[in-house]
Amino acid sequence: MQVNLRVIAGPYKGRIFTFTQHDSFLIGRNPEAHLCLPEDRFFSRNHCLLEINPPHSFLRDLGSTNGTFVNGQRVREVFLNNGDRIQGGETVLCVEVGVGADNQSPRPGSSLEDHPTAPLFVTVECINCGRREQVQASAADEKFTFVCEDCRIELKKNPHTIPGYETVRLIGRGGMGAVMLGREQKKGRPVAIKTLLPEFAVSDKAMKRFMREIDVASALQHRNIVEFIDRGTYNGMIYLVTEFVDGCDAARLAESHGGQLPYPDAISVLAQSLDALSYAHAAGYIHRDFKDQNILVSGQGRDLVAKLTDFGLAKSFTHSGMSGVTMASEMAGTLAYMPPEQLRNFRDVRPQSDIYAVGMTAYSLLSGTIALDLPKKSSINNTIRAIFEQPTIPLKQRAPNVPDPICQIIDRALSKDPTQRWQSAAAMRNALLHAA
Ligand SMILES: Nc1ncnc2c1ncn2[C@@H]1O[C@H](COP(=O)(O)OP(=O)(O)OP(=O)(O)O)[C@@H](O)[C@H]1O
Ligand SMILES: [Mg+2]
Repeated sequence: MQVNLRVIAGPYKGRIFTFTQHDSFLIGRNPEAHLCLPEDRFFSRNHCLLEINPPHSFLRDLGSTNGTFVNGQRVREVFLNNGDRIQGGETVLCVEVGVGADNQSPRPGSSLEDHPTAPLFVTVECINCGRREQVQASAADEKFTFVCEDCRIELKKNPHTIPGYETVRLIGRGGMGAVMLGREQKKGRPVAIKTLLPEFAVSDKAMKRFMREIDVASALQHRNIVEFIDRGTYNGMIYLVTEFVDGCDAARLAESHGGQLPYPDAISVLAQSLDALSYAHAAGYIHRDFKDQNILVSGQGRDLVAKLTDFGLAKSFTHSGMSGVTMASEMAGTLAYMPPEQLRNFRDVRPQSDIYAVGMTAYSLLSGTIALDLPKKSSINNTIRAIFEQPTIPLKQRAPNVPDPICQIIDRALSKDPTQRWQSAAAMRNALLHAA
């Protein structure tokens, strides 16, 4: 599938931006914007941000002074459809949704990016209740796994027991699904079973790609990374089976200390997590969803062990189109941990992007607050704008009891400019261990 943004008026008239994968697109006076209009006073610095996951696209105005208009209406946020017109000042972009280049052979004399073929619809059937719906497809014979919205809601509440495992109890719920404590029937060992429910019908091709990416990430073996055991699909649910960590996640650990983790414990958790990141980065993996809830902690004091989970999972989930436009749905809770460059360009994520999220996590574990000045229920649009524009609040102001050198190490991880951050997980880890 493909989405084109065709500029039909304004200084960039004639330009076409083509998206065949999950991506973001920023419009504004910011020199780093994808559609940069530095001279046009109509535009705010960070005017509006599009999230595109073909065939879906979502636009959010970032609190711009003069507004963003879609089909003549001023909008704050909106799903975009084929033929919609986005306007700001003299600039007009037309949205084109269709079958993308990877599904067509070029017509003589025409560029595929230029004219995606009109969207194709096929009928899919819910794997649980048989309900039928129409979805956009790349080819008439494309096969899909589909769970309708009602079944999805029900399965989120009560995930089915996976063959080969007993369900013991629900441990928690996150943005992509639920996690249960289970027992492997063969060996009797306890396991964690994470079930994921795609927001949309998933093509066989996308499912294969997702499983391939999971298999690749499952090769990571480190004492501070949760061990991967099994994966598969059952009744439309995707399940991932991992080692069960008998303890709690770092967020709950901080809560059990009144919201602020004493710094020696926090440094132990962070140093172990950075060790895992250093190993994974060297192997070419970026976590992309590093946060308090994805660090599982067992033991105490000198015996405290921290393990990272959900390596690259958020990326694989969005990449395969299963999440649709994630920012619009449930990523909101941890959106504030996302570094500016990742928001601007989902696919250009470096080890330094994980370092920023480590900084955010450290900040929250030590201070019980986030590093940006945002109200508890800040809207997604305000959070995004704050990530782009607001300086982070020095940790010392929020956690006066934490020694200065530690505060400085964490503040450095939170630089907006990735080149100003710690350049490697190992460097940050060493600095923390020396400062402690
Ligand atoms: N292997 C595991 N062993 C023990 N508890 C786990 C395990 N994996 C996850 N959990 C618990 O289940 C909770 C929910 O996990 P889940 O990954 O679904 O949500 P999340 O981490 O908050 O968000 P995200 O979907 O972005 O990862 C976690 O916060 C953690 O406390
Ligand atoms: Mg998680």
